[in-house]
Amino acid sequence: MIVSLQGVEKVYPPHQPALRKLNLHINEGDFIFIAGASGAGKSTLLKLLLGSERASSGTVAVLGKNMSQASEFEIAQIRKRIGIVFQDFRLLKRKTLLENVSLPLELRNYKKKDIETRSLAMLDALGLRERAYDYPPTLSGGEQQRVAIARALVGKPDLLFADEPTGNLDTHMSRIVFNLLLEANAAGVTVVVASHNLAMIEELNLRTVVLDKGEIVGDFEQPKGVR
Ligand SMILES: Nc1ncnc2c1ncn2[C@@H]1O[C@H](COP(=O)(O)OP(=O)(O)OP(=O)(O)O)[C@@H](O)[C@H]1O
Ligand SMILES: [Mg+2]
Repeated sequence: MIVSLQGVEKVYPPHQPALRKLNLHINEGDFIFIAGASGAGKSTLLKLLLGSERASSGTVAVLGKNMSQASEFEIAQIRKRIGIVFQDFRLLKRKTLLENVSLPLELRNYKKKDIETRSLAMLDALGLRERAYDYPPTLSGGEQQRVAIARALVGKPDLLFADEPTGNLDTHMSRIVFNLLLEANAAGVTVVVASHNLAMIEELNLRTVVLDKGEIVGDFEQPKGVR
């Protein structure tokens, strides 16, 4: 099991409940959607999986590590194996797109030449090759989102967490992004996507966990029965 949550509760101080008694298991190679209305707890769940927030009670295990007990150093080690698309992108404004996308490969000590080749190919796959030497603030929201996706995928992570990765994209670009996520999944990456893009969720027909006010109210394995 690559991700396992047991009896997980999260209360933001002083007393804002975000997740209640959550049990969730994700196997290696899965592709899973976390759906639910605004405020349901999707981002909070991803933050617990990343170790950027800690559970108030219960256990959160990711890649075999108990995130509640992991040291900052251990969390940093785990994160090197995780690709992340944040809801607010978090691109580095003073670095070019190419430098932004290169970061995960630098952390993994790839050779300079490889870093450039792979990062440019990733930008190309997302239609941004000709913007490689531009800076994030000169891009539209959807373009920035695509850079964030390129950065998350470039290092071939074991796990990919994406928080509303198509929130700023039109249907055509959403399909391109989901195809990239599916390709990554086919190549062995376990993918967890928080999304309210219900049309895309239905179209893809994959396992979907539905959150409502911090509780799991549905866990549908391929809702229409065929894939
Ligand atoms: N840092 C915080 N401090 C206090 N409360 C928070 C904090 N972050 C989130 N919350 C609360 O926790 C609940 C879950 O928020 P969360 O961001 O996880 O929802 P979400 O499902 O990602 O929503 P959206 O679809 O709008 O992104 C909400 O009630 C929210 O107000
Ligand atoms: Mg959110």
